[in-house]
Amino acid sequence: MKILLFGKNGQVGWELQRSLAPLGELVALDSDSQELCGDFTDLKGITNTIREATPGVIVNAAAHTAVDKAESEPELVRTINAFAPGVLAQEARRTNAWLVHYSTDYVFDGSGDKPWLETDATAPLSVYGATKLEGEQLIRQANCLHLIFRTSWVYGARGGNFAKTMLRLAQERDSLNVINDQVGAPTGAELLADVTAHAIRTALQRPEVSGLYHLVAGGETSWHGYASFVLDFARRAGIPLKVLPDAIHPVPTSAFPTPAKRPHNSRMDTTKLQNTFGLNLPMWQAGVARMLSEVLGRSS
Ligand SMILES: NC(=O)c1ccc[n+]([C@@H]2O[C@H](COP(=O)([O-])OP(=O)(O)OC[C@H]3O[C@@H](n4cnc5c(N)ncnc54)[C@H](OP(=O)(O)O)[C@@H]3O)[C@@H](O)[C@H]2O)c1
Repeated sequence: MKILLFGKNGQVGWELQRSLAPLGELVALDSDSQELCGDFTDLKGITNTIREATPGVIVNAAAHTAVDKAESEPELVRTINAFAPGVLAQEARRTNAWLVHYSTDYVFDGSGDKPWLETDATAPLSVYGATKLEGEQLIRQANCLHLIFRTSWVYGARGGNFAKTMLRLAQERDSLNVINDQVGAPTGAELLADVTAHAIRTALQRPEVSGLYHLVAGGETSWHGYASFVLDFARRAGIPLKVLPDAIHPVPTSAFPTPAKRPHNSRMDTTKLQNTFGLNLPMWQAGVARMLSEVLGRSS
């Protein structure tokens, strides 16, 4: 079986290159790929790529993820986050291929404090959230076999991430202000990629699992709780930090005004995914500790 992966160099795409490799012949593309078009602003090119590659599974890890920048370039974002996934879905439908796609907690308005269910009403607050929601809708409308995984607060060991930023700032500054009124679950790109591979194996045997799933690590925290965990881990690992534990100050979202509004409540209920695929989603701390061990070059 051939698997066609878009967005191979993103956080999730990079891990998918690893986790999908044993499932079949993997063709992985990014926006600069030369032989086959992987650029989501070129919808005709994407169509031609799928027709040429004839994959049994299309996995889309490409997206416009710069949430604040998205507010000032909505048409470009709509093309990448909505129209391009729509094209993938039409091609998947035409050839009876599976389409695997990622969406986001930003499709919700972040009200309340209950974990969101797949059936809850959506109400995005930002261009990014609205275009990701439109992408989901175009996939469903195309009526192809699909797995859409809504996730949140994604990090990978490769490239920049929130934990690395906190580590750097804690070495430079005496005190830190970190938002404590947004709640979610930091979710590793590794976990997303591993769950994706398991889910594809199940889906190939059981087409009735086609649908939308919430996929995040277990537990919940705020950005302040996340930062505190990261810095506590670093301190225990012997990393010298300028900031003291009681100088990590919780602040509201309003302390950091941004062009895009973010949801306060990003809790996601993952019962459907765990039951359907027989999977256990580990607590967020396990993945973050593992990533930190890699980043800090330690085996603890
Ligand atoms: N990051 C999060 O916190 C988060 C949270 C919830 C959901 N998600 C979703 O999870 C999925 C993976 O996100 P991620 O964190 O891995 O994102 P990422 O690290 O920003 O990677 C996105 C990838 O998309 C590619 N891309 C951007 N514009 C493109 C274009 N015009 N054509 C083709 N590729 C393009 C980028 O490649 P280039 O750099 O080469 O352009 C990059 O490789 C996305 O669907 C995202 O919406 C992410």
